Amino acid sequence: MPALDVYFYGKKVGKLTEKNSRLSFKYNENADTPLSVNLPLQKEAFNDKLTRSFFNNLLPEEGIREAVARYKQVSSNNPFALLKEIGGECAGAVELYPEGYIKENEPSVLKPISQEKIAELLKNQAQIPLLTGEEIRLSLAGAQQKIALAIIPEGSDNYYLPRGDYISTHIIKPQNPYFEDIIYNEHFCMSLAQQIGLPTATSFIKDFAGEFGYVVKRFDRETDSTMQSGLKRIHQEDFCQALCLPDKKYQKEGGPSIKQCYKFIATADFSRKADALMQFLKTIVFNFIIGNSDAHGKNFSFLHKQGRYELSPLYDLVSTAVYPALSPNLAMSVGGEYNPNQIHRSHFKDMAKDLDIKPAMIEKIIDEMSAKISAALPEIEKQFADSGDKRKITEQIKAVITQRISQIS
Ligand SMILES: Nc1ncnc2c1ncn2[C@@H]1O[C@H](COP(=O)(O)OP(=O)(O)OP(=O)(O)O)[C@@H](O)[C@H]1O
Ligand SMILES: [Mg+2]
Repeated sequence: MPALDVYFYGKKVGKLTEKNSRLSFKYNENADTPLSVNLPLQKEAFNDKLTRSFFNNLLPEEGIREAVARYKQVSSNNPFALLKEIGGECAGAVELYPEGYIKENEPSVLKPISQEKIAELLKNQAQIPLLTGEEIRLSLAGAQQKIALAIIPEGSDNYYLPRGDYISTHIIKPQNPYFEDIIYNEHFCMSLAQQIGLPTATSFIKDFAGEFGYVVKRFDRETDSTMQSGLKRIHQEDFCQALCLPDKKYQKEGGPSIKQCYKFIATADFSRKADALMQFLKTIVFNFIIGNSDAHGKNFSFLHKQGRYELSPLYDLVSTAVYPALSPNLAMSVGGEYNPNQIHRSHFKDMAKDLDIKPAMIEKIIDEMSAKISAALPEIEKQFADSGDKRKITEQIKAVITQRISQIS
């Protein structure tokens, strides 16, 4: 039976197998830390649904998945084959290798990559996705083009391909010809979230030899002086993995709802639970105000820290409302309504009732978020004005924000 060795925090902990298109995962006897909320330590192998919900969610989606499948000559609906091809450097602390591959023999040497080469990778993403052309087995979820590289030391212009213990430290997304200035849009929304005090991954825009990219620091990587590379992985899971949804990220198709996510945080072993619940609610309101309709179950994640969970910093914040080609509808309904143009304060109050929290609490969050965003906007705008002529996208996002704040005031 074909199998992949599953490594966790650098140690071989189990096997992923496939039989008649059904997946199964089994821990080795030495495994001491669970990979997922839904994969607790146990002797028996896990069934297809539980296995698939963790492992399929490590893979890219839509066009990126198709492009990887084409490039690697496997089927896009075959997660086992895709993970065999690209499941090395993944989200969190998990790595997969073809059975018998001796990871420990892999050279842990830095492989520099020039700014020109990065520009070329970014330009060619549509045909050669992720780092497939470099023979680097990188897998990240999402439907947007991206690569991941190591920047060592942080803040420098020294970029490296992830290899051995030199794991990637940053994710880089190229411009998208269909969505004008989307990299500035994402950086703007991320900067705004950070400015108002929401825990947010740190991002910047960089000119790679004429090709601009959005760069975001990975929150699932940390410095560790005991490692030769000085880096280690932190484990993360997204809410589709946690809620056991292998291939549904939108509520309309059976993906996570606000209530399911909220309940999961309320019942799972989160440290600083009250803060996590509050962060989640603030993020829902923030996303509504900035016009981010794409806040689906894979755009919320949590970190595994000493056997307990913590919400991850925010990522993938984009004002999708400025692009007429993208669906206006929310990935998760608010008070039963998907159409953001129909959502008013009363919908948030209905949402609160559904979550068993006092409507006054969500009203307080709305008022606070609205005031903080309005106060922070001039500073963020100034930063953008200083970093080049991105007036159009900032004006468009600002118009959405003004409209949304008045809608729920
Ligand atoms: N800063 C980060 N640190 C660690 N992991 C991250 C970070 N940003 C994103 N990820 C991981 O990579 C995945 C893809 O990233 P992201 O959501 O930004 O991509 P996307 O292609 O824009 O997604 P979508 O399909 O939702 O538009 C996330 O689901 C998350 O697992
Ligand atoms: Mg995403």
